[in-house]
Amino acid sequence: MEAVLAEEQREGLRRRLGPLDLVFLGVGAIIGTGIFVLTGVAAARYAGPGVVLSFILAGAASALAALVYAELASMVPVAGSAYTYSYASLGEVVAWIIGWDLILEYTVAAGAVAIGWAGYLASLLQAAGLAVPQWLAAPPGAGGFINLLALPVVLAVAAFLTYGTRESATANTAVVLVKLAVIGVFLFLGLKRIDPGLWRPLLPYGVGGVMTGASIVFFAYIGFDAVSTAAEEVKNPRRDLPRGILGALALSTALYVAVAAVLTGLVSYRELNVPSPLAYALVRHGLPWASALVSVGALAGLTSVILVDIFGQTRVFFAMARDGLLPHWLARLHPRYRTPALTTWLTAAAVFGIAAFLPIGFVAEMANIGTLAAFVLVSLGVIILRQLKPDQPRPFKVPFYPWTPLLSLVFSLYLMLNLPALTWVRFAVWLVVGLIIYLAYGHRASRLAEQRAGRVPAFLPGPAAKPWPGDRETRRSEVREEGKGD
Ligand code: ALA
Repeated sequence: MEAVLAEEQREGLRRRLGPLDLVFLGVGAIIGTGIFVLTGVAAARYAGPGVVLSFILAGAASALAALVYAELASMVPVAGSAYTYSYASLGEVVAWIIGWDLILEYTVAAGAVAIGWAGYLASLLQAAGLAVPQWLAAPPGAGGFINLLALPVVLAVAAFLTYGTRESATANTAVVLVKLAVIGVFLFLGLKRIDPGLWRPLLPYGVGGVMTGASIVFFAYIGFDAVSTAAEEVKNPRRDLPRGILGALALSTALYVAVAAVLTGLVSYRELNVPSPLAYALVRHGLPWASALVSVGALAGLTSVILVDIFGQTRVFFAMARDGLLPHWLARLHPRYRTPALTTWLTAAAVFGIAAFLPIGFVAEMANIGTLAAFVLVSLGVIILRQLKPDQPRPFKVPFYPWTPLLSLVFSLYLMLNLPALTWVRFAVWLVVGLIIYLAYGHRASRLAEQRAGRVPAFLPGPAAKPWPGDRETRRSEVREEGKGD
């Protein structure tokens, strides 16, 4: 714990972000495939118009987990998110499991978002009379061979991250405004055309369907932990962090509920199992221009989510390589751009592989089970740290302790249990593969293993503690570089 904090305490980052910045950061990372794609899948296959309730339930689970993240983020504000928190509180093995698990939250989720992106591109191309052959626009098993349409966005995002162009607050705000604007257009046009008869029956698949729907649309909330990783740059974390995280969640939940209600009021839920349901509903109401507008906005919005996900994954890999749980070369930086170029491209290749060959339902379910498992462990981490380190400064404390982390744990576990049995089997296989890799590599090569063997003194920083695009050293050099260009 002390070693983890020491990484950060040598010098503080500049505290410049206010609650509104955090809300925009959160909405930038949160709103994506969940609303633009999965609303349709969840309504058609699981919840019917009751998908509105699914969104409320998943939002409540996320809000509880968000409070838990806020406490840990304010205590352990270093790169690596839940992986680093669990390393500090639960030890190496659990940290490895959670880091391995986070690959599902970041790389696999980015794959799902890339599939969403490809779906909207296909619908735009089709509207322009450029129908792409099915074998190039769908994965095997869904009538195609490869979903090549996901390639442009993955290439663009990887190139962007390699050159180290930071997503400035202005660029993020612009993307968020585009996303919010297209959702606004959809709601404005849709509201007037709702047929309330389509909301009946509200729960065609019963309460169970709503619950399964909640564990599917939970995907729509993944990403709010991006806000918690900004903990150290927030002017007043105790006040602003919970406001920012909860504000972003509240705004997203309100929009999700509104969009789900309007969408299921525009076309029958039975028709909604399509790659771009919002665009589809507008076309069905004779509004192809609006459909094209929403598709362009969706493409912009989904791009930022993929960018944040790949960026988040490289941070987690970096933290794991620094601790020796992954090979040190994964933490290496590009000599010129000073970004983790190799890790970025490896992650991008995996994201494309997932998007190209797998169906979205499967991918999103794996991302959800991985993220929910991380929530469970992080909730447990808060409770354990309160016992082990009661005097550690906590700029933000979860309200109603221990009920909030306990409820978060139970709620996340409950949503996990509502995922299909096959998803659990796949998740178990994923964890077993992870454990084998840990035993074969990390257990022997980690910094802790080196210390156990007496090869390095416990007080020395790890060999991979090199500059990182998010840390002070890199920032200073970037500022110097920028200064030269002025
Ligand atoms: N919450 C993000 C999305 O829905 C992952 O795309």
